[in-house]
Amino acid sequence: MQLLFRLPKLRRMNRERHSWAEIFKQAQQFANGFLNPLQVKSEAIRFLEAAEKLKPRYILEIGTAQGGNFFLLARSAVRDATLISLDLPGGPLGGGYSQWKTHVYRRLTLPGQKSFFLRADSHAPASLGEVKRILKGNALDLLFIDGDHSYEGVKQDYLMYAPLVRQGGLIAFHDIIPNVVPECTVDRFWNELSQQVPVEEFVEDRNQGRMGIGVVRKNWGTDSTDL
Ligand SMILES: C[S@@+](CC[C@H](N)C(=O)[O-])C[C@H]1O[C@@H](n2cnc3c(N)ncnc32)[C@H](O)[C@@H]1O
Repeated sequence: MQLLFRLPKLRRMNRERHSWAEIFKQAQQFANGFLNPLQVKSEAIRFLEAAEKLKPRYILEIGTAQGGNFFLLARSAVRDATLISLDLPGGPLGGGYSQWKTHVYRRLTLPGQKSFFLRADSHAPASLGEVKRILKGNALDLLFIDGDHSYEGVKQDYLMYAPLVRQGGLIAFHDIIPNVVPECTVDRFWNELSQQVPVEEFVEDRNQGRMGIGVVRKNWGTDSTDL
């Protein structure tokens, strides 16, 4: 109840009136960490500064968990943006979110923005179909991949969803540096991709053992997604 009472104030936070540091801090502190973005603040802010330059209208986040990054992504987007979250209930490294939380997350977007919450496996063909149905032929401006953290899983997310991104749009990956959790092998895929296309990295400390955001700007033909 208290949560719902406090949401409108959080929802009013936007880039016209607040710095990224203020917005990030609020996301962290809201309702004792209910939304806490699973991100390093400096990395997230550098990435969001790059993202907002795109004026994103269509955004997909694979892996939303507590919703903090989804809240931040909404603030990088235009007022009539469409945001889609795709997250596997009970999935590794976050566990997804229950149905009731979608009602809270929906109220985290800016007034005028549309949000969709697909509680499903990103690798299922039906999930890709559902994302396409929501996009109605529009391309993504921004794809944030932070779901399955295995080499195979992240590669599959890239191969399935990068073709939906427009030329000049951004594809971001989280956890690109070598991870202390042996099952997290995003770095292996990231290194492979970095050999093929120009990339940009936002990493606070190479030895932090997790995190790090890597970004690829889609400026190549869709055939080069054939890694
Ligand atoms: C690290 S959390 C995401 C954190 C969030 N992006 C943030 O920055 O706050 C990873 C999420 O990915 C989800 N996930 C794992 N495998 C998935 C899959 N195959 N499809 C969709 N979501 C998946 C998990 O359920 C978990 O909630």
